[in-house]
Amino acid sequence: MIHIFPSEALFDRASALRIAGQIAEKPDSLIGLSTGRTTGAMHRLVVQICREQAIDTSRICFFGVDEVVGIPPDNPAACAAMLRTEIIGPMGIPDRRFLMLPTCSDDFPAACRAFRAALDRRGGIDLLVLGLGENGHLGFNQPGTPADSRTQLAAIDPDSETRIRARAMLPPDAPLGGITLGLADILEARSLMLVAKGSGKAEIVRKMLLGRVTEAVPASLLRHRPDCDYYFDTQAAAKL
Ligand code: GLP
Repeated sequence: MIHIFPSEALFDRASALRIAGQIAEKPDSLIGLSTGRTTGAMHRLVVQICREQAIDTSRICFFGVDEVVGIPPDNPAACAAMLRTEIIGPMGIPDRRFLMLPTCSDDFPAACRAFRAALDRRGGIDLLVLGLGENGHLGFNQPGTPADSRTQLAAIDPDSETRIRARAMLPPDAPLGGITLGLADILEARSLMLVAKGSGKAEIVRKMLLGRVTEAVPASLLRHRPDCDYYFDTQAAAKL
């Protein structure tokens, strides 16, 4: 279902309520989170709503949909660091209930397999919260990524906010990449929500929902899941 909100504040609150509702309904849920400009305020509101409504967060397990590769995990540009600041720390979630793909490893394929095995051991993904790249990426799955891809290393699109943020904190020649849940992993989640706000997302929102379902626009593959919930502000939904 498509939900459109007249202000950023209402968008943040409605999407946070959806996540808090999942926690209330199934306190041992496994929930995947995305980082970036769209999700920070929403994460902080999830903490606030859970506190105000006395929702039990003692069994919840969160994980990050993707991570930046080539930086220490505590670098502020790492998805782990952002999630710790926005939701994991304030909610008091211990490390055993916060799963992240590594920023550094000497065997990334093994780390990807271990990550997926950890998600499986937790009973599979209950809710996956996805942001939307301006080029249509989901996680770090760039245009052209096969729909049957699994958790793997990935490129970061050159003009993205994520790359600019990470670049600003690294020596200019440091290699930078991404690691991400695959598109097949994403499409298997029990429930899915995609969040996008701001006029910069209007064109890709149109392509995702009204264009062809194609690997050239990874987010369009969500149309294979008619139960996916979309949360937009009016600016992101302006071209629908
Ligand atoms: C990054 C992240 C994604 C996120 C997307 C949108 O590339 N890896 O997980 O969903 O960008 O970010 P923003 O909300 O800043 O536009």
